[in-house]
Parts: sequence; structure tokens; C-alpha cells
Amino acid sequence: MALRTKLAAFLAALVANLSFAAIAVAEQGVPDLENGAELFQLCAQCHGEDGSGNKLFLAPAIAGLDDWYVEMQLNEFRTGLRGLHFDDIAGMRMRPMSITLRTDADIKDVTAYVAQLPKTIPAKTLDGNADAGKALYTLCGACHGPTAQGIAAMKAPALSNLNDWYLVEQLTKFKMGIRGTRPGDPYGVLMGPSSPMAVTLKTDQSVRDVVAYIVTLAPSSDQPTN
Ligand code: HEC
Ligand code: HEC
Repeated sequence: MALRTKLAAFLAALVANLSFAAIAVAEQGVPDLENGAELFQLCAQCHGEDGSGNKLFLAPAIAGLDDWYVEMQLNEFRTGLRGLHFDDIAGMRMRPMSITLRTDADIKDVTAYVAQLPKTIPAKTLDGNADAGKALYTLCGACHGPTAQGIAAMKAPALSNLNDWYLVEQLTKFKMGIRGTRPGDPYGVLMGPSSPMAVTLKTDQSVRDVVAYIVTLAPSSDQPTN
């Protein structure tokens, strides 16, 4: 084989290998963190640059949430499983934001960016009886994990680094059927008005107590913030 032909064959093989590698990366969907950071500029306006949340905007801490949960929620907002109920003022603020994410790749990229932000410890804003809450939490731990670290297989998210006011808000919305009751939402049902959660947390006081306990579970290595 002439040298030139050999070289051409080698280059052709190299190009084929490289494009094969590129396709493999695209198929695995390795997220583009740079694009994620760019997309996060909008999110930061309500959730904060560090993702620690802002009560003024009803926007919770999202830093370090598991990627599967962030992606699931962004898709729920986007499709209207979450944030469409007329009494869900906070959800209705978030839903249009999710719609700015045009492609699945954008969702994956911004999700990866949110998930890699260091978790934060939101300031305590509510009072409750953490001891009473600990007993109530036994049920929750079956799905959310003993330290509220979340259990992906149950689709039950981490709760330990969420804001106390946001936890109370979500539990109340689930109990009242404002979140998680749309047809086609198999996971919301697990927290619905007739779920064991709702039966366990009958009173507003029991909601505050379990939340007072959950916020004690944030790992001390996480960054204290505001
Ligand atoms: C206009 C303010 C605003 C902007 C901008 C915004 N959000 Fe939100 N976000 C909210 C509010 C309010 C909630 C709480 C909704 C609720 O209570 O159900 C929320 C909830 C969420 C949740 C659910 C958290 C959980 O624990 O379930 C995620 C995830 C989220 N936002 C991600 C994002 C991302 C990613 C962006 C940028 C693309 C973004 N948000 C932009 C206001 C905003
Ligand atoms: C049978 C399993 C199960 C049990 C028991 C359970 N949960 Fe959940 N929980 C879930 C699932 C699944 C979701 C996600 C629902 C969705 O995204 O629509 C969830 C969501 C939540 C959320 C919303 C988190 C966020 O970031 O918005 C809170 C708060 C919560 N659970 C608290 C509790 C508490 C407190 C208890 C106990 C009193 C409890 N859960 C018991 C499965 C469970």
C-alpha cells in the first residue's frame, strides 16, 4: 500500500473512532455543566446564586438535591403535574420557569449544575417539638431514609437540607390535595390526602413537630448559610 493510501486509511479510521466516541458520549448524555451554569443564571434570581433558597420568593433551597429528583420535578412542572393547581401560588411561580428549559438536554444540564452545588443549611424560622417529631418521623423514614437522605428507589427525595417553611408548605399542600393529585402522578399519591403521611400528620402541630425534627438531620459538614 502506498504511504499516502495508508495515511488516508489511518485518518479515516481515526475519524470514525472519534465520531463513534462522540456519539457514545452524546448517547450517555454526559451533562454540559457550562450550559447548566448559564441556564442557572435565571434560577439564581429566586433560588440564590448558591441555591440556598429565598423565602421572599417562596423559592426553596435546591443546592445538592439528587439529580434524579431535580430532573423529575422539572419535568413535573413542565408537564403540569406540579404547579397547575389554582391554590398553588408557589408552584405557579416555578412552572413558567421550567418551561424556559426547552430541551431534555437543557433539563439534564441545569439539573447536573444544581446537584453539584454544595448543600446548604437553611436558617431555622419555625418552632416545633423535635422530640415529638422524631416519633412521627419513623413512618417517613421508611421512604425518605432514617436520616432523611432520600431513597432513589422509592422516588422519595432528601428532606434534610430543605427550608423548614418549605417543608411545612409542601406537607400542607400534599394533605390538601394541592400537590400530587393529578392523574398520571404515581409518586404524588404516596403523599396524598389519604396516605399514611396524611393520617400520621393530622394536625398543624404534628406537621411543625416532624419538620422541627427533620431539620436536625442536616449533616454538620454541610455549609451553614443565611
Ligand atoms: C420566579 C422565581 C423562580 C425562578 C426564576 C426559578 N424557580 Fe424554582 N421554584 C420557585 C418556587 C416558588 C418553588 C416552590 C414551588 C412549590 O412550592 O411547589 C420552586 C421550586 C423548585 C424546585 C422543586 C424543589 C423541591 O424540593 O421539590 C426545583 C427543583 C426548582 N425550583 C428548580 C429551578 C430551576 C432549575 C430553575 C431555573 C431553570 C428555577 N427553579 C427557577 C421559584 C423559582
Ligand atoms: C410511601 C413512601 C413515603 C412515605 C411514607 C412518606 N413519603 Fe414523603 N414523599 C414520597 C415521595 C415518593 C415523594 C415525591 C412526591 C412527588 O414528587 O410528587 C415525597 C415527597 C415529600 C416531600 C416534598 C419534598 C420536596 O422537596 O418538595 C416532603 C416534604 C415529604 N415527602 C415529607 C414526608 C414526611 C414528613 C413523611 C412522614 C410523615 C413522609 N414524607 C412520608 C414518599 C413518601
